[in-house]
Amino acid sequence: MELKIAVLAGDGIGPEITKEAIKVCNAIGKKYNHKIIWTYASTGAIAIEKYNDPYPDDTHKICIEADSILFGAIGDPKYDNDPSAKIRPEQGLLKMRKKLGLFANIRPTFTFSSLIDKSPLKKERINGTDLVFVRELTSGIYFGDRGRKDNGDTAYDTCTYNREEIKRLAKKGFELSMKRRKKLCCVDKANVLESSRLWRETVQSMEKDYPEVEVSYEFVDAVAMRLIQWPNTYDVLITENLFGDILTDEASVISGSMGLMPSASIGNNNSLFEPIHGSFPQATGKNIANPLAAILSAAMMFEMAFNLKEEAECIKKSVEKSLEKGIITEDLAQNNEKAFKTNDIGDFLKNQILSEN
Ligand code: IPM
Ligand code: MN
Repeated sequence: MELKIAVLAGDGIGPEITKEAIKVCNAIGKKYNHKIIWTYASTGAIAIEKYNDPYPDDTHKICIEADSILFGAIGDPKYDNDPSAKIRPEQGLLKMRKKLGLFANIRPTFTFSSLIDKSPLKKERINGTDLVFVRELTSGIYFGDRGRKDNGDTAYDTCTYNREEIKRLAKKGFELSMKRRKKLCCVDKANVLESSRLWRETVQSMEKDYPEVEVSYEFVDAVAMRLIQWPNTYDVLITENLFGDILTDEASVISGSMGLMPSASIGNNNSLFEPIHGSFPQATGKNIANPLAAILSAAMMFEMAFNLKEEAECIKKSVEKSLEKGIITEDLAQNNEKAFKTNDIGDFLKNQILSEN
């Protein structure tokens, strides 16, 4: 197969981890006979410096012409510490999600048996956790009306959802749960928020179309607690943009490191695959960042964008093997365990993939 992939490595550790993901994809391409054509484009702080735009039109063009997109990370402390900055790297990510119509963000949380002791949570609590968040990604408070009034002394952000936006997201959640354990949890704050009440109403009206799916409705504050108390009771969770952002960072603690968590952002015509972590500026250029979230995002790309399940499985198996052998970066290394470098992980996986028949 010929696969045209746009690469938006972005800021901070983005380029380093993306390089390892590309290394792994090229090994898969070689093994399974796929021709992968990589096209590089700028986004984030780097794009602001070059084009004064964190998601330039040229980048958008490359994205829509590609079969799928591999994304690294975005963000630069220079802007975090300057609340008055008019152009910010994160705007690039939001603009990109919106312009590409990537309304569903699929964020799985799982455990690796070899890493079960790395989580700060008790083993018996997290064992067997296998859940997926389907986070709404192109609406809600991230994209609502915002501004200042009273001479700048009052600020507001608004959360708006319409039925269609909720429906298309919930549909992804129902469909995913049908392929899994047929349990769907709608996470909201319907005891307070009107937008949440519309979520609940909309999801309830869809239940009849998926009679096999057991649907529960839980408040986001309760889910924040249950998620780390009994994570293995959840299967698929659907939620709005901001709740999903917060809960998926929380969920990453279950697997032991944020550096492990991949994600897929899906729309009707485009798909993008990105780690859930940020640009980790303190580690930039040090070759210490964990590239596994980026590599596992590439595995999700093979499966979801190209329907190449065997290739995806091969990456995941190689990752499991590397972890079993203790080929880990410093975020996971404890008690004098050796910490490998970012590029060591990619090299190990590449060799592992190519050495197997
Ligand atoms: C994420 C990130 C982004 C978000 C930021 C960088 C805008 O935290 O992908 O979860 O909030 O969506
Ligand atoms: Mn986030």
